[in-house]
Formats: sequence, C-alpha cells, structure tokens
Amino acid sequence: MPEEISIQKREMKERIRKIAEEIKDLHAESLEDIEALRIKYLSKKGEVSMLFNEFREVPNDLKKEVGQMLNKLKNETQEAISELKEKFEELNLSNDKLDLTRSAEPIELGTRHPLSIVKNEIVEIFSRLGFVVAEGPEIEDDWHVFSALNFPPEHPARDMQDTFFIARNPDVLLRTHTSSVQTRTMTSQKPPIRVLCPGRVYRNEAISYRAHCFFHQVEGLYIDKNVSFADLKQALLYFAKEMFGEETQIRLRPSYFPFTEPSAEMDISCNLCGGKGCPFCKGTGWVEILGCGMVDPNVLESCGIDSKEYTGYAFGMGVERITNLKFQVKDLRMFSENDIRFLNQFKSAY
Ligand code: DAH
Repeated sequence: MPEEISIQKREMKERIRKIAEEIKDLHAESLEDIEALRIKYLSKKGEVSMLFNEFREVPNDLKKEVGQMLNKLKNETQEAISELKEKFEELNLSNDKLDLTRSAEPIELGTRHPLSIVKNEIVEIFSRLGFVVAEGPEIEDDWHVFSALNFPPEHPARDMQDTFFIARNPDVLLRTHTSSVQTRTMTSQKPPIRVLCPGRVYRNEAISYRAHCFFHQVEGLYIDKNVSFADLKQALLYFAKEMFGEETQIRLRPSYFPFTEPSAEMDISCNLCGGKGCPFCKGTGWVEILGCGMVDPNVLESCGIDSKEYTGYAFGMGVERITNLKFQVKDLRMFSENDIRFLNQFKSAY
C-alpha cells in the first residue's frame, strides 16, 4: 500500500508538471486552434479536468499538496488560453481580415458654435477699423473689475448678489464684465490703444430662458489724442450696418456707466420688422444692443494715462444678445446645452 501511494503521488505530480510545462509555450494560428487547446486541457474530458477526476483517489494525507498543485495548474491553463485569445484578437484587428477596399464611414464635420460664429464676425468687422484682439483672465481681482473702472465702494455690482467671489476672499472674483480687459490693456500699453476684448463673464443670476450665470461679451476700447464722441458713433454705425445690413439705423440714448462719461446705450432698428414694430421689438421698432461712452478721465488716470493729453471711447456688447438678433434663438440655455440638433444648424464662413 505505501509503495502504491508513492507511485500514484509521483505519477500525478509528474503529469501536473508536464502539463504546466506545455502550457508555458502554447501556439495557435486561429481561433479554432485556441478552441482545440481549450478542449484538450479544460473540457470535461480534458487533461486538466481528468486530473481533477483522479484527485478523488489521492489518499487524504496527500490531498493538500496535490490539490494545491492542481488548482494552480488549472488557473495557469485558463490564463494561458485567454492570453492567447487576446493576442490573437489584437493581431486579427490589424491583420489581413481588414478589408481595405471597403468604403469609409462618413465622417461628420463639426460646426462652429453660434456664439463663436458671431464673436468672430464682430472681431472681423472691427479689425477692419484697426482693432486688435486683447484678452484677460476670467478670475480677476476687485481693482481690475471695479475700482480702476470708477465703481464707487458701495456700488451694487460689488455685492455678493451679483458677483461670484472665490475662496471667501473679497479680492478674488470671477469677472462680471470684459471691461476688466480695458484696465489690463491701459496699464500695460501706451496710447494709441485700439483693442477688442472678447470673453466669458460671470454673474450670480438664476438660470432661465433669458438669463444665465455665465455669458459672453465683446468690449471695445480706443484711446488716442483727440478721440471724440463722433468717432464712437461713426465706428458703431459702421459695425451695425456690417453686422445687420446696410439699411440698419442706430440711435444713442443717454445712460450711465461708472467708467464712461458721457455714457449711452445704442439701439438698432429692429432687424426683424425693419423698424415698423413687431413682438420682438415690443412694437417700438428698436432693439438695444450695447452700452458705450467716452472713457471717464478718472479711469484713464487710475490706469496711468494722462487724461489731459488723451481721450478715448469704449463700448461693450453681449454676444448672446447679438446672436439672438441674428438667429432668433429664444432660449439662452440652448447655447450651453451642447445639443447637436441645435448646433448643427449653424454654418458659417467665420
Ligand atoms: N461693462 C458693461 C456691462 O457689462 C458694458 C459696457 C457699457 C462696456 C459701456 C463699456 C461701455 O465699455 O462703455 O454691462
């Protein structure tokens, strides 16, 4: 009996070792080959499974050792076969099964976002008047957004209600308008300055079809000797006609901004009804599109520009507003929802 056991044990261990050696070096040319290997070792009558069947006859005191060897062998065999499968599948993808004569899937070309289309058009129009693009950070400090622009300390725009502050620090905030880029340009360049500043701005507004907590503006700034309100009006009339058509008219209404004096708001004749009056312009024939004015001497001085030598004009418009006028998008939220069905409708040269 002891002799028999020892033979059985040796024989079992040797068979396990032999198979363990074999599976270190498996080859297959096809998925069928791999399946054949799986059957050879792991199917019900496969070599590894057979060893498990015989395991029943292994005497109790050897069961632990042989059992461990068997389990290890089974795991290694399964791993070897699935590795082979993975390798084969990878190879197969890059191999001769590829039909290079098949026609390609049509690639859908993306379109520019409507806000980008309109922003690019605004930039393009003003570049013909000599304006160049200037940019500034979206995370700003109080001075560049408010103080340098002549906002009094108690101005409501500085309130938590309107402005997003960052990290509970009242000096770090998200810019509420691109007029902050005026400040940055005036403190870093000498006149003549003629810049256009497109960018995203943030305000603490409840999101609805007509308001959002972020939107886009384009700011314009021109500073030189003898710049007058007439120059401002001329530039804006040119812009309105280029953007909305030759027949477009403008009108300027007195207004107030801390950083301009005098200040105005500009309306254009309603481009939907041609000024006759319709629901879009609420029957008035006019729609407001921007704010503007002569740069307040206080602003020039706080940015280090001599207000006795230089004057300038500035204007700021909302890109969403202009886009709505051009494309009649009724719900502002469409601009940030990334719905392909919406975005696909805008094609442009810009
Ligand atoms: N910053 C103003 C706003 O966000 C827009 C504006 C008005 C900009 C008049 C200007 C300006 O440069 O002159 O509402």
